[in-house]
Amino acid sequence: MDRIRIRGGRPLNGRIAIGGAKNAALPLMAAGLLTDETLCLRNLPDLADIHTMLQLLSQHGVAVELNGGDPAGGATGRVVRLRADDIHNLTAPYDIVRKMRASVLVLGPLLARFGQATVSLPGGCAIGTRPVDLHIKGLARLGAEIDLDDGYIRARAPKGLTGAVIRFPLVSVGATENLLMAATLARGETVLENAAREPEIGDLAACLNAMGARITGIGTDMLRVTGVDRLHGADHGVLPDRIETATYAMAAAMTGGSVELTGADMGLMEAAVGVLSEAGVSLAASEHGLTVTRNGAGLSGVDVTTQPYPGFPTDLQAQVMTLMTVADGAAMITETIFENRFMHVPELARMGADIQVKGPVAMVRGVAGLSGAPVMATDLRASVSLILAGLAAEGETTVNRVYHLDRGYADLVSKLAGCGAEIERIGD
Ligand code: EPZ
Repeated sequence: MDRIRIRGGRPLNGRIAIGGAKNAALPLMAAGLLTDETLCLRNLPDLADIHTMLQLLSQHGVAVELNGGDPAGGATGRVVRLRADDIHNLTAPYDIVRKMRASVLVLGPLLARFGQATVSLPGGCAIGTRPVDLHIKGLARLGAEIDLDDGYIRARAPKGLTGAVIRFPLVSVGATENLLMAATLARGETVLENAAREPEIGDLAACLNAMGARITGIGTDMLRVTGVDRLHGADHGVLPDRIETATYAMAAAMTGGSVELTGADMGLMEAAVGVLSEAGVSLAASEHGLTVTRNGAGLSGVDVTTQPYPGFPTDLQAQVMTLMTVADGAAMITETIFENRFMHVPELARMGADIQVKGPVAMVRGVAGLSGAPVMATDLRASVSLILAGLAAEGETTVNRVYHLDRGYADLVSKLAGCGAEIERIGD
């Protein structure tokens, strides 16, 4: 298994190109199932999860054409053309779904367009049990008959779906996306109340409308959808990855130095910008995106609580905790979204961090510095938090099981090395 070796203590200076958002690209690709025409997606990030989704769509029968850089210039991502005009398999198998939970996002589109779908239950993952009961209950509200047996969701809607009011008891990004896609082809009107408001959902809704859907309330917690008979093709650019952006902003903050994050959109990450600014990091919109600078002054501890958007994202919790391990004073980090998202804590402790965990709260007390050590990656965002720690630590850090990283961070080693980090990937 590959690992990454870092010799820490070098400031980061230079430019990092931010890619398209993984968590926008995945539902956008699933939306390709809603039409028999071509859906063209640009600025697609080159990530393991994207390839898994392409593998899943191909086994349904979607024609996939993936080529290099965006010929239209602009974003540096890749271009994929999807055409679901010959779907011959309505089952999403366990061996693919278990690799990537977002596979469950084919359920709504398959059911809405073909009246049937069989999707493996995704099962839990390192950060939590990750149920999909809200997806299932929502589709049942739209008239689907759903059975769960031998680990599969078997959904049928032989007469099609019928619009309804769906009120989510808690905010769910995936359930909002699945139901939004299904509702575009349901008869009549659907209202999604207490819908998630993450920018990736706005990006999906904009693409669906470009495909002929009729969605209003985009960006709010109430989405209204008037169903249509069919959707047509579209050409859509994936929005920049706010989590990748903030991750590299924190890398610059931890090491000192100044980094321009090109292609970033500061407007997508106000909560993260607020916390970083309060901690003493300066962030300014630049001609090509966003410039992050920590000019020598120390970092101050800031309390953080993760919340659904527009609150502080759970996908940045491990990273901001790492930042706080070397800040002056203390920081209370509260994780409200997932029940087991502190697995980076024991690894950071091995590097000298002072963190006390009590239930959903981690109390971080800043230390003068971290020491390099061999550490273990456990999930995508915990892995990158260990990279951040290694960049700032004295001495050498080796991060094992970096396949977790490949799911969400394209070209991480070259992006950081390009800004002066002493970092390399070592294959077995
Ligand atoms: C999406 O996961 C993201 N993944 C996650 O990013 C992100 O952490 C999460 O949203 C929260 O922002 C993608 O977009 C592919 P949820 P999702 O449904 O949709 C509970 C990363 O690192 N819940 O918003 O699975 C659930 O257990 C990944 O990029 C139910 O109880 O998250 C959790 O406690 C990690 N029943 C809470 O809701 C359901 O049916 C929020 O989950 C669905 C969810």
